[in-house]
Amino acid sequence: MKDYIIKDEWQIIEDEFRPAFQEISESLFSIGNGRMGQRANFEEDYSGKSLQGSYIAGVYYPDKTRVGWWKNGYPEYFAKVINSVNWIGIHVYVDGEQLDLEKVKVHQFRRVLDMQKGQLIRSFEVEMNTGARIEVQAIRMYHLFQTETASLTYTVKAINRNMEIAVSSYMDADVVNRDSNYDEQFWEFEGYEIAGPSQSLTVRTKKTGFAVRADLASRFLYNNKPIINKQKIDERVKVGERVTQIVEQGAYLTVEKYVAIHSSINHPEAELSKLGTAQVEWMQDIGFSNLLRLQQESWQKIWQDADIRIEGDVSAQQAIRFNIFQLYQTYTGEDSRLNIGPKGFTGEKYGGVTYWDTEAYCLPFYMATKGKEVARNLLIYRYRQLDKAIENAEKLGFDNGAALYPMVTINGEECHNEWEITFEEIHRNAAIAFAIFNYIRFTDDRAYLATYGLEVLVAIARFWSQRVNWSEAKQAYVMLGVTGPNEYENNVNNNWYTNRMAAWCLEYTVQALEEVCGRYPDDYHRIVSKVHYKAEESEEWKHIITHMYYPIDEERGVFLQQDGFLDKDIIPAVFLSKEDRPLNQKWSWDRILRSCYIKQADVLQGLYFLEDQFDLETIRRNYDFYEPLTVHESSLSPCVHAIIAAKIGNPEKAYEFYLRTARLDLDDYNNDTEDGLHITSMAGTWMSIVEGFAGMRVKEGTLSFNPFIPQNWDSYSFNVQFRGTPLKIKIAHDEFMIENHSEREINIIFNNELTVIKPVEK
Ligand code: BGC
Repeated sequence: MKDYIIKDEWQIIEDEFRPAFQEISESLFSIGNGRMGQRANFEEDYSGKSLQGSYIAGVYYPDKTRVGWWKNGYPEYFAKVINSVNWIGIHVYVDGEQLDLEKVKVHQFRRVLDMQKGQLIRSFEVEMNTGARIEVQAIRMYHLFQTETASLTYTVKAINRNMEIAVSSYMDADVVNRDSNYDEQFWEFEGYEIAGPSQSLTVRTKKTGFAVRADLASRFLYNNKPIINKQKIDERVKVGERVTQIVEQGAYLTVEKYVAIHSSINHPEAELSKLGTAQVEWMQDIGFSNLLRLQQESWQKIWQDADIRIEGDVSAQQAIRFNIFQLYQTYTGEDSRLNIGPKGFTGEKYGGVTYWDTEAYCLPFYMATKGKEVARNLLIYRYRQLDKAIENAEKLGFDNGAALYPMVTINGEECHNEWEITFEEIHRNAAIAFAIFNYIRFTDDRAYLATYGLEVLVAIARFWSQRVNWSEAKQAYVMLGVTGPNEYENNVNNNWYTNRMAAWCLEYTVQALEEVCGRYPDDYHRIVSKVHYKAEESEEWKHIITHMYYPIDEERGVFLQQDGFLDKDIIPAVFLSKEDRPLNQKWSWDRILRSCYIKQADVLQGLYFLEDQFDLETIRRNYDFYEPLTVHESSLSPCVHAIIAAKIGNPEKAYEFYLRTARLDLDDYNNDTEDGLHITSMAGTWMSIVEGFAGMRVKEGTLSFNPFIPQNWDSYSFNVQFRGTPLKIKIAHDEFMIENHSEREINIIFNNELTVIKPVEK
């Protein structure tokens, strides 16, 4: 755990240069706009530890699979959203000496992520080896109002004498991925232009063929007055402009960089150059201060709907805003071809591709803070990939239109290549079905089932019905050789969560078929004939539903994580020594697999999803049994525990888990923030407050709250959009306030009592 980030309600602040934490800070201070994003690498040269990363959503490379022992069914490649053109680069030379924070004396350093305004700001003062002292101020943005553009300003001031400062503003296409499986360059260089007032680079991903064109226009100013005498940088893969200027003591030299990055994903290739030139011209015309204003206005709109205000606890306030900020930097929901990578644009780990995290954790956040369309886009993403999910299942031997959605994907094809996960962690299929249910429960968009949802459900139901087998011994359906959400057990039989969610999928599909048949008969007939559905299939599914096997320990009254769970040596995690943690960095894999320690919510994940089917005592018993064995080594774990702890009346634990999920990256709890931020679990942080502390649920179509407030908070408030009704909720120690910002009354259940909320008077 680290504790170097300064607490502030709206800003993430680092006030000292800490080379040892540079990669952690590069992750924490990442910026993006849903379409592009990057780690907080320095603009100037830096020879210390650093992971360079600028990413463009959807631009990926299929990196050839590398495994020790090939298994039939493994995918050929792992798709990676790759490091792309480095557009921030600035070389600074002071009296001929290169500025590199690793090699000079750093007197002051401050880095700020201003979440209210969407800016990354850095300032520092250094003494060069020649004795020249300079001060640098830099501001950088990925524009939310025009998501294919970005800008920065960089000002160097001469502090202690006159000096010659040379500044180069460049873009560089010679970039690599640290995690490349075969040390390959993923880009083909196509060309550059330097003739006009701006410069450009065009590159193309190998194999996938995405063309990317980056345009750069730079303005150089001396004491705010334009410098005309510029030289071109003409190094083929690296282009830009440079100036050299005698800077008098107290004077300063500024470079403004305006950058446009367009790709063939969004535009015909022939238009990329025209678009790029026009965008950089436009930015130059309106100038940096106007871009700052537009950026601030765009973020203001997001905060209006998505902010959670916590009074009385700066640390918690900073944390929740950091989580919300990073989520919106990663995904804004305008494009149904995009999704939310577990690390967003903040690192290479997980390749920027899609996991079950989206459906299980992120959907509720976007659904409540952005409205229906965004959540619908997330679902449509999977609808578009249904054919591939069917192909994926076929490769593994399933038929009749059964679909197995990939564990990891960007284009619908499976990318994961560890047999115990690729072939066995099949519970992901259930999360995709559950998301459809969850979306309809929250939005009441029932037509979604008819237009898209049902086809997906039928294909998933077919998979489960083929994946189970009848056990003569148990006289029940069993599911053998699976990995549940707890990846610290592999190849187990009858993982309770998977069995229960599989049966739930079958139940929901049967119900959905009936609903669509009754309400949308035309769609029903269209789908039935398209997927060749036969009524006998539902009969078979019903048989599985009523005869599914669930491992249970009657004596303790708990669901068993899997058949053999009680054979394990069950010793609560508090007895592990500090040196053993985190297990995944300290123990052999074999030792982990045999142990009773649980990586993340497993049985409890099922109790969270299907909460209404279990009484409070059952939930409490399972929580009391499993929580002490859980090591929370997946970032997705604490939030589910926070919600359940709140539900069973354990506010202290709920708060403890909240802090753990909310400050996971800020305090580097799991010792892995340097790899990138845990973006998908950030949505779980939001859930911890809204579903955990405020107890928000949808009960038979009505929004319900059972709130409590952590002792050390004065109040907290947030907004949700429920079925088109914008609501503002505020909870204090002796107050529950709800404002209805629509035109009509709405029913709300508050502490189990139905109340009518009238619209606020305008
Ligand atoms: C978790 C998975 C998750 C993945 C990406 C893993 O550590 O166990 O449940 O999907 O990370 O976040």
